[in-house]
Amino acid sequence: TCTQHHICFEMSLEQQVPGDLGNQLEAKLDKPSVVHYICYKKTDVYFTLWLNLELLVPVAIDCWIDNIRLIYNRTTRQTEAPPGVDVRVPGFGQTFSLEYLDPSKRDVGMYFVTIVQSLVEWGYTRDDDVRGAPYDWRKAPNENKAYFLSLQQMIEEMAEKAGCSVVLIAHSMGNMYTLYFLNHQPQAWKDRYIKAFVSLGAPWAGVAKTMRVVASGDNNRIPVISSLKIRSQQRSAVSTTWLFPYAHSWPADQVLIQTPTTNYTVKDYQRFFKDIDFEDGWEMRQDTAPLVSALEPPGVAIHCLYGSGVPTAEGFLYNNFPDTDPTLILGDGDGTVNLLSATQCKRWIGHQNQPVHMLELEGNEHVAMLLNFTTVAYIKTVLFGP
Ligand SMILES: *[C@@H]1O[C@H](CO)[C@@H](O)[C@H](O)[C@H]1NC(C)=O
Ligand SMILES: *[C@@H]1O[C@H](CO)[C@@H](O)[C@H](O)[C@H]1NC(C)=O
Ligand SMILES: *[C@@H]1O[C@H](CO)[C@@H](O)[C@H](O)[C@H]1NC(C)=O
Repeated sequence: TCTQHHICFEMSLEQQVPGDLGNQLEAKLDKPSVVHYICYKKTDVYFTLWLNLELLVPVAIDCWIDNIRLIYNRTTRQTEAPPGVDVRVPGFGQTFSLEYLDPSKRDVGMYFVTIVQSLVEWGYTRDDDVRGAPYDWRKAPNENKAYFLSLQQMIEEMAEKAGCSVVLIAHSMGNMYTLYFLNHQPQAWKDRYIKAFVSLGAPWAGVAKTMRVVASGDNNRIPVISSLKIRSQQRSAVSTTWLFPYAHSWPADQVLIQTPTTNYTVKDYQRFFKDIDFEDGWEMRQDTAPLVSALEPPGVAIHCLYGSGVPTAEGFLYNNFPDTDPTLILGDGDGTVNLLSATQCKRWIGHQNQPVHMLELEGNEHVAMLLNFTTVAYIKTVLFGP
């Protein structure tokens, strides 16, 4: 007896500086050394590491980078936190960590709050039949195995409690996580537990801007943060190279990065990583590229909503490569995800038994689409429609 389909959110974006967002992360410290005398070496409790804008001011940012960075081990092909840093993802099963990003500044990091608040108005209850599934967005699925098990258990529990299947809603990189998850579930499990997957702003084929992030850093036009400084942290997040553009969709001759001497396309990643002196990046890419690059159909009813008509970087021109900011070559998309990537959902039409719906949201920016009435109204039809 199904009265109301429960909802489970997965989300997180692909870049890690303000302007782009991801669910909250917390850290507790007991470090052997620090990079500056003002940095905390030891804390008694977990504190908000992401997002806390107060940590991103000069000098303090050096402490922050030394806590949030990951260290890649080429032997284990895994990342580790720096010695004495314990990072955790707060709020699994709850919604607070993805409604707002900076818990202390509610007006700054609005994220899923509009959608969750609407659900509450339609009769849902936070942390009960609307739940969040945040994860450590610095990593790709190969390093988040325990997360997928928790997600599976939570969905089963929610479905059993409701007496009906669950609707999944994901944003940005959360879609790649959801696809990976669904690709690893038997069809019978999906038929039983998943009603639909609402995909918002998915980078199915990667995003061009990740290459700039790794090459020269991206401070998202927040001038107090130096791009080069933030670059070290951005390179260490494996999820960034995971989201490099994929050759299955990108034209092989499209120049992504142009320097006075070299043009780099999707075929030139190994040389790119060598030339920017970040060869671990090539290893990370090889570890993660196969995770969802086959773009196997999700095997559930899917609704792909994506923004368009917002200038979106699709190439970068460098005069002095890679240590200065590039000139952007703009194309179509939602300001973050290139349209070419967001629309790859179309390849599943006719290739799975379940329906594939696509809805272009003209003029919607990547994060703003979460706050748009059209998006909220669409979710309502998925939940309460036939
Ligand atoms: C990488 O991991 C291996 C195996 O656990 C370990 O022996 C090695 O010391 C690690 N390398 C670094 C640089 O930490
Ligand atoms: C790179 O590509 C641009 C246009 O796509 C072309 O004009 C330029 O000559 C190329 N540069 C090199 C070094 O091949
Ligand atoms: C919401 O999305 C619709 C459909 O794409 C668009 O026409 C409208 O301008 C958007 N509204 C805002 C406030 O962005």
